[in-house]
Amino acid sequence: MKRAAASLLPKINIFPYIPQVEIPAFFGKSKSVEHFEQVITRGPPFTLEDLPAYIDALKNLKSGINDREFLLEKLLILMSRLPDDSVFAKQLQISVIGILYKDLPHPPCSFLKAPVTTPPPSSSSVPYIFRSADGSNYAMSVPNLGQAGQPYARSVPSTHVSSCHPLPDPGEVFDTLLRRRQNDFVPHPGGLSSLFFAFADLIIHSIFDTNSRDWTINDASSYLDLSIIYGHNEEQVDSIRKKDGTGHIWEDAFADKRLLFMPPSVGALAVLFSRHHNYVASKILSLNERGTLACPTTLQEAQRTAQCAEIFHRARLVNTAFFMQIILTDYVGGILGLVRDGLTWRLDPLQEFREQTHDVSQRGAGNAVSLEFNMLYRWHSALSRQDEAWIERTFKVIIPGRDPSSITVEEFKAAVRTDSAQMPDIRSWTFGGLAREEDGRFSDADIARILQDATADRACAFRARGVPAVMRIVEILGMEQARAWGACSLNEFRYFIGLKPYKSFSEWNPDPEIYTAAERLYGDIENLELHVGLQAEETKPPIPGAGLCPGYTISRAILADAVCLTRGDRFLTVDFTPFNLTTWGYEHCMVNKVDGSYGGMLTKLLFHMLPDHYPAGSVYAHFPFLSPEFLASSMAKAPRSAGIRHLYDWDRPLTVQQAALVTPDMKVVRGYERRLSNLHMPPRIRNEAIRKPISDKVAEYTASTSHFAHLTSELIRKRRQADHRVDIIEILNLLPVYWVGDIMVGLPLMDESSSQVTPELWYKAFFSIAHYLFLNDNPAYDWTLCQKAIRSTQLIKFYLESHLNRLSNGILSINGICDLLFSNHLSSHKGEVFLSEVLKVTQQASIEEIASCLFEEIIPSAALFSVVIASVVKYYMHTQDDAFVLECQDKGSEQRPAILQYICKALSKSSAFVTTWTVYI
Ligand code: HEM
Repeated sequence: MKRAAASLLPKINIFPYIPQVEIPAFFGKSKSVEHFEQVITRGPPFTLEDLPAYIDALKNLKSGINDREFLLEKLLILMSRLPDDSVFAKQLQISVIGILYKDLPHPPCSFLKAPVTTPPPSSSSVPYIFRSADGSNYAMSVPNLGQAGQPYARSVPSTHVSSCHPLPDPGEVFDTLLRRRQNDFVPHPGGLSSLFFAFADLIIHSIFDTNSRDWTINDASSYLDLSIIYGHNEEQVDSIRKKDGTGHIWEDAFADKRLLFMPPSVGALAVLFSRHHNYVASKILSLNERGTLACPTTLQEAQRTAQCAEIFHRARLVNTAFFMQIILTDYVGGILGLVRDGLTWRLDPLQEFREQTHDVSQRGAGNAVSLEFNMLYRWHSALSRQDEAWIERTFKVIIPGRDPSSITVEEFKAAVRTDSAQMPDIRSWTFGGLAREEDGRFSDADIARILQDATADRACAFRARGVPAVMRIVEILGMEQARAWGACSLNEFRYFIGLKPYKSFSEWNPDPEIYTAAERLYGDIENLELHVGLQAEETKPPIPGAGLCPGYTISRAILADAVCLTRGDRFLTVDFTPFNLTTWGYEHCMVNKVDGSYGGMLTKLLFHMLPDHYPAGSVYAHFPFLSPEFLASSMAKAPRSAGIRHLYDWDRPLTVQQAALVTPDMKVVRGYERRLSNLHMPPRIRNEAIRKPISDKVAEYTASTSHFAHLTSELIRKRRQADHRVDIIEILNLLPVYWVGDIMVGLPLMDESSSQVTPELWYKAFFSIAHYLFLNDNPAYDWTLCQKAIRSTQLIKFYLESHLNRLSNGILSINGICDLLFSNHLSSHKGEVFLSEVLKVTQQASIEEIASCLFEEIIPSAALFSVVIASVVKYYMHTQDDAFVLECQDKGSEQRPAILQYICKALSKSSAFVTTWTVYI
């Protein structure tokens, strides 16, 4: 029977993340091939259908762009799909960021009342390079800008004289236009999970805290400074800190009590950032990069206090920068649908550039959030069914005996006041019915369960009549606030940000039920108030470039505010440096785009903070903001995902109880099997019938150690000819390469420095495979290790299949000729005897099967062999052991149990074994 042959021609990999033989990836790919691949995988950056949007933009740049033409999305698609080094894409991104930043005046021209301009008192206690508690001194030329306790800015002064007097009753507006009907659940069209909105909740609590007595005042600072964790005044910051010289904060503590009224996923996310602070502080102390830190117990009180403050502030800088990176990668990636569409490109509002005029574009100049931003960020309609049920239960607890949808403003305010007054010490706050453990921490299992529940829980669609009925009172308050602030109308707001104002209610929302109801309430589209206009507007479909899918105006305006918020913060821009954050801290905040999450910083946080609950490859860790169910179906439809779907673990991570049923041995074996199968594309089903004869053949060839002894002497002799010094570790590293590559598998081993396929390259390839398979205990690095190992596997299998094909078909077959032409100038054929024998004992198997099986039998442990032998040699080089030397000199028999005992002893005592491995992580 003729065997099924593997294709021998090197494949051009047009899907970079689909594992194929990637010889160019090893030896450097040409730019044009890379660009071609990127265009194919990402999709066309521009199509004829995009023309109307560009024409509309050119025609209406001054009078207002028609956002139904999706200009914004088309520009985003253009930037995200162009090749990575496209100058045009970079220029376009600079222009877009410039436009978004200049959407708002800097500093704002108008406030809800006169800001306080006395020098902030905190300036003396916190050095310039660290964040003050209240956001003062963030903008050096306007030190009070964005400080907690200042009034909201106003971006759009309203000049419209309304013909609607008085404005409709907020309760009636809610019931008519905003209230979600019972059991009327529309899943979020972009597949966003409720965890996405829990994260959004953290963001809004970081920057908005409308003072309950004076609505013009924002008690939060206007910066993403994680005040939810640290607090927004000195007193709160003090109460959260341990002050023990380590820079730590209290276990799992956070400062914003409002989070306790939110669904448990919001608290669980806050706990992650609280833990992350302590993780970072410990790293800073242990690495002690500048040599100025000491063990706190060795310090005098004054020194300890100073050290504690320094570590605390640096750790906060790192923690907030990490928070920002999550916002820019995972969160904005979700808003723009980039994660869903498998794109690594992100909008980077922090970048440094010059204007056309050569002026340096402004960064770090401060920010003050506006009332309009507050209005457009009230995303209550996206709350999931579970969240809705949770709010209903909570309202029943804080206001017992009342139907939540009929609570009055006074009742609500009184209940919140009572609840806040009863707050215990910050260290014992709990949420979601959780209990703290003895050390003050919540159990990892509880936090992971809550977060995973929220990932599995699909959010709801934004839409008119989408806000849960239980939020009635909250929305009424929102409308009352907006009116008290003198907020502009929806059309005034659209005009301000350059969008075409609506001419009719049906243009605003084409659903007849909605537009007729709105018309009845407001009479004229010009009277439509901002809050309602934003929340009940027609929503964006989930097209490329659109992931959040809120109302059209929100989707445009949110980007301007996001850019101003981040670009205006000097700690995220001009002061975001290794000097301030420490080198480790700075690098810790860097994004790895080939991590299986398209640059997932929340992924990194989950893997680092809850490693036992987020296994490597889990979609719950890689895509926490997308519902796994949605993701599975969207990936199944996308051809470009075909090569990576199998690399993810789609099951919900095991609970503690389920995990207890898996023995440690089973865990190790399952993990190894999963990783081994990931190396093959398509994923392989083991053929046990061919495994046995191959395994026997390999054992037969490796039984004799004299080959190794001979090879070692040869390598030493060759090195001696070139250099009088011989590095024995280097020789030991290359030993398996020569043995496996040359004698068994037939890899080309060019010693000349001009060749790219040197033995050293093969050692790296072997090592990358062993590293991924055996030394891979941190799930955060699994994907990156896997990608390297896949490339190495493909290369090795390519040569292996080539030889097997030639030996199987004879060199006069088409395959044989191709193989010979392609591989002869590179390959050694010493492995022929071994491979021919393997072919004889596997008559029924295909070439691919034999190659895969041989690969699994021989390659994974090849580099381990070097590490083990090197550790033993190192150990005995440093330990005088005459008995061992004698034993080694007695070369009479090949396999000596006594030597095995020496090896075991060396390995058990040798730290070198461990060290060598950890160096590579
Ligand atoms: C179940 C989840 C949520 C609950 C129970 C909730 C509840 C509330 C409450 C009670 C207020 C204060 C009303 C007032 O005193 O004026 C509020 C305000 C607000 N909510 Fe929500 N909310 C939730 C989720 C969200 C989400 C997901 C977002 C958007 C991402 C959001 C955005 C806002 C904003 C921007 C404000 C105004 C804040 C301020 O002015 O201080 N909320 N919400």
